[in-house]
Amino acid sequence: MRYVRMPIEKESPEEYGYDLIRFNLSESSVSDRSFKALGLDLPDITLLYGEHRGPRELRELIAAEGAGLAADDVLLTGGAAGALFIISTALLGPGDHLVVVRPNYATNIETPRAIGCDIAYHDLRFEDGFAIDVERLAAEITPRTRLISVTCPHNPTGVALSLDQLQALVGLAERHGCRLLVDETYRDLSYTPPLPLAASLSPSAISVSSLSKAYGVPGVRMGWVITRDPALQETFLAAKEQISICGSAIDEWVALQVVRRKAELLAETLPQMRRRLALVADWMAGEPLLEWVPPTGGVVCFPRMTAEPAGGTAAFYQRLLQAHGAYVGPGHWFEMSDRHFRLGYGWPTSEELEGGLKAISAALRG
Ligand SMILES: Cc1ncc(COP(=O)(O)O)c(C=O)c1O
Repeated sequence: MRYVRMPIEKESPEEYGYDLIRFNLSESSVSDRSFKALGLDLPDITLLYGEHRGPRELRELIAAEGAGLAADDVLLTGGAAGALFIISTALLGPGDHLVVVRPNYATNIETPRAIGCDIAYHDLRFEDGFAIDVERLAAEITPRTRLISVTCPHNPTGVALSLDQLQALVGLAERHGCRLLVDETYRDLSYTPPLPLAASLSPSAISVSSLSKAYGVPGVRMGWVITRDPALQETFLAAKEQISICGSAIDEWVALQVVRRKAELLAETLPQMRRRLALVADWMAGEPLLEWVPPTGGVVCFPRMTAEPAGGTAAFYQRLLQAHGAYVGPGHWFEMSDRHFRLGYGWPTSEELEGGLKAISAALRG
């Protein structure tokens, strides 16, 4: 493995210093929640090695989301990031071929790169509404392809696949004898009916998700990988056991409380996020210096500047932060031009969001 730190992590607000940013529009989750806000009171938990796959009740609740899935199809991991690492290292070796969507959550590209894979990038285009072109993607598959990797709803664009597209991708993986990874980390933040869990559609498909984004608890590092292929799940479990043996007893307890209350928490979050999105849409409609593809899921979008900002993009980002106190995710976090930026509308308060949007408009004008 050749590890290189990714710009999205090196330049993340937590590494920069949350307290140095007034309007933080760079996050991809809803607001972080505390124990108190969740009404949790930590009981006297025995700090033992837990069941390696993760607590059965938690896995049962997660499996219940997908038709035909069972608890043992689910393996809990250290966040979705942990699941993605396990999948890449279990399925791919140096020289193995994978087709991966770009832009993407950086780890979906960087871990295969660190392994030394042969990578075909399926580049999404603004002009196509950042939609995957299944026919073009199919042409990128070779007899050596071991994995097709997509994210839905997508980070950083917020665009989701249609059911037809998802089924077509599953069909491709089945026909070519490779696996389809669908990173579903934003699935619970869908503004259109969510797609079925990919893993429920075929043993060739693998689902990944976590509690980080929709529930505002990224600090408990709780994610999972789902596959209906028991031999593959055994390999994933072997990887988990070599990384950490089992999960953290405290994280698993918190996760169980959150998953038990999932419906109630989402019923509160989704209408709020729809309102935030409408606010961003109104601002975009009145901002001629930006254009966008409206998102249908997640809490991010990926606007593009219609002209070079005064002094260039580097000067724009510097001005935005230094003079206006606002932070967004520049395009280079996603291997894209800095004319794009990721705007997160779920994490700041409504007032901070409005302040941040005003700051962007001001900084665009010099
Ligand atoms: C698409 C996607 N997958 C996975 C992750 C990792 O999240 P976590 O490890 O907190 O679950 C992120 C975080 O930004 C993401 O955007």
